[in-house]
Amino acid sequence: MDSVEALKQQAGIEACKFVKSGMKVGLGTGSTVKHTVIELGRRIKEEGLDIVGVPTSLATETLAIKVGVPLVELAECDSLDIVIDGADEFDSEFNLIKGGGAALLREKIVAQESQAMVVVADERKMVDTLGAFPLPIEITPFSHHATIRQLTRLLDCRVNCRMAGDNPVVTDNGNYIADAHCGPNLSQPVELEIEILKIAGVVQVGLFNNMCDAVVLARKSGVETIINPNGRITN
Ligand code: A5P
Repeated sequence: MDSVEALKQQAGIEACKFVKSGMKVGLGTGSTVKHTVIELGRRIKEEGLDIVGVPTSLATETLAIKVGVPLVELAECDSLDIVIDGADEFDSEFNLIKGGGAALLREKIVAQESQAMVVVADERKMVDTLGAFPLPIEITPFSHHATIRQLTRLLDCRVNCRMAGDNPVVTDNGNYIADAHCGPNLSQPVELEIEILKIAGVVQVGLFNNMCDAVVLARKSGVETIINPNGRITN
C-alpha cells in the first residue's frame, strides 16, 4: 500500500469511532470512505455492531453489500444519525468541494438528511481557499452545451463536460458532470452555490457549505479529528 493510500485508510477507519450500535449511517463515496465501509463491515461481523447504512452511490452500495453492511432506503428513515464521506477539498470554514467521483447529488441528498456529517480526508485535501480542484456540477444531458455556456459566463473560467473516452460521464442519476476550472479563488462559496443553482440545467453543485461538522484528517504525522466549532458535534 502506498503512503497516500495508507493515510486514506487511517482516516477512514478512525472515523468509525463516531458510529455506535443503533445508528442509521450515510455511507459516502470514494477511495477514502471505502475504508470506513470496510471497517464498519468488520465491526458488524466481529463486534456485533448493529447499524444500517444508506449508500450515496451504486459503487458504495455494491461495496457495502460485499462487506456485510445492511442497507435501507433513505425514504424508510426519518433521518440519519450521521453520514461519513470524503471530500476533494475543505477550507478552514469546513466548506467542501465534492463530486470528484461524480456522486455529488446523492451525497448531498444523504448529507442534508443527516444529523451530522463527518469528512474523511488526507492532508492534500486541506486548502486555504476552495477551487484548485475543478468544481463538479451535475447538469442535465438536455442542452448541456447551453448549460456549460451559462456556467462559463457566470464563473468566467474554463468549464468542461467530464468525459470517459469519447462520451460524457453519466452519473448514477443519468446526468452529466461539468467541471469548472475556477482556480483557488472561491472565497465566497455560500453566495456562489446560490448563483450556480439559479441556472436552469444545473441539477446540483459540489459545494457543500455549512454541512460538515468534523474532519478526520490523516497526516504523515498522525490522524487528527478537527471539530467544527459551529457544527452539531460536541466533544
Ligand atoms: C464523490 O463524488 C466525491 O465527492 C468523493 O467523496 C470525493 O471525490 C473524495 O474522494 P476520494 O476519497 O476518493 O478522494
